Amino acid sequence: MNDNLHQLRCFGCGARVTRGEARPDFRCSECGDLFEVEYPGWSQPKGNDRPNAGALKWLWRERRCSSEALDHSGVWRFREMLPILDSFGNAVTLSEGNTPLYHLTRASKALGIDQLYAKHQGMNPTGSFKDTGMTAAMSVAKERGFEWVACASTGNTSAAMAAYAARAGLRSLVVIPDGKIAWGKLSQAMDYGAVTCTVKTDFDGCLKLLIQVVKEAHIYLLNSVNPYRLEGQKTPAFEIAEAFDWNVPDHLIVPGGNLANSSALGKGFRELHQLGLVARMPRISVIQAEGANPLVRSFAKDHGATLEPVEAHTRATAIRIGNPASWRKAARVIQETGGWCLDVNEAEIAIAKAELGAEGLGCEPASAVTLAGLKKLRAQGAVEPGETVVLLLTGHTLKDADYTIDFHRGTLLKNEETAGREAELAGLQRNAQAVDATTHAVLAAMKDKVG
Ligand code: F0G
Repeated sequence: MNDNLHQLRCFGCGARVTRGEARPDFRCSECGDLFEVEYPGWSQPKGNDRPNAGALKWLWRERRCSSEALDHSGVWRFREMLPILDSFGNAVTLSEGNTPLYHLTRASKALGIDQLYAKHQGMNPTGSFKDTGMTAAMSVAKERGFEWVACASTGNTSAAMAAYAARAGLRSLVVIPDGKIAWGKLSQAMDYGAVTCTVKTDFDGCLKLLIQVVKEAHIYLLNSVNPYRLEGQKTPAFEIAEAFDWNVPDHLIVPGGNLANSSALGKGFRELHQLGLVARMPRISVIQAEGANPLVRSFAKDHGATLEPVEAHTRATAIRIGNPASWRKAARVIQETGGWCLDVNEAEIAIAKAELGAEGLGCEPASAVTLAGLKKLRAQGAVEPGETVVLLLTGHTLKDADYTIDFHRGTLLKNEETAGREAELAGLQRNAQAVDATTHAVLAAMKDKVG
């Protein structure tokens, strides 16, 4: 059976190409914009290729009890929604997805929102949401016979790519900004056997360089300009909808860097809606770091019509991106769902991250922008107490242990960043203490921290 039912449609000019016609940089040769995967059969209401909503819900639930490797993947369990392979037998999987949805007990009390949840994509095999996209695009690379795959990265994409390439038996090339990615992520690329190049530039410079490289050599580009990545990254939308028994939450709040993930989740909910699996889409809001906020600026200037790149600075290194490739797609998602786009500063990120840690969850700094952003949305009245809210946590707390340790030691933020927030910070900081080897000293240390 040919499972492959898709084509690629340019997001800018609407031009359609087959998968074999796409350029190595996945840019449209007519207008230079990015492609989206499109399933023509879905738009014909009675067509044979249009999936049946009721049957799908039943099938996906059944697969949870299946012993098939493909059904253990939270991406391929929903494979009718991503028919991108000639054969699903070519799927490269590490049992990604199926990530937990946690109720945030403390934050929900503090913000007066009963139904506040975190979908923790950091609980994926390589510790970030990138795994869901990588299983999809790596499977395409393997099926199409590539020997080499490559990405530029702020760290998580490279970790995921290296792991999935190793599973697929492909070679991988990683291009990362020198000194600007967290050690945990760099160590993963090395461990999974990638050829890792550190370059004295930022993420945007790395991506530009890599685009030149893939035009000269037969290498499959696995950055999120590759539309198949987004097909995998849309699947948490299905998991979220399923978890709420197909009643979608009112709000989904997502961090914004290169802006592919917000685009992908929007596509996921849009397709569920289009196929009649859900009655509406959630409002999708994108939160950026103040020092890496080109989309926020774009919305302030002309509501997402144009974007001017910025020089990006933030300690949340995963989202230190000034020229996001997928900004047009993300802008559309915010506009069509009635979401917001706002930014949060370094102290707000650090505090939100510590609060999530204190709930027993933890995440990497880039993920914590979601809670920091929710506080602002709540203060503006954009989120009501009775609404259901899901924060998308994108990376595992162990990805960037240096950040966490610096926070608890009080060395992360500068005085001008902490001004007026000293008490709030002190209440969250839990530095390790050196104590004498006596019961008295240990018990005294416990007393110090009570309350
Ligand atoms: N959160 C984390 C932990 C990330 O690693 C990234 C992106 C984002 C959020 C933002 O997602 O780019 O789709 O808007 N990291 C990329 C990387 C760029 O190379 O790992 P986005």
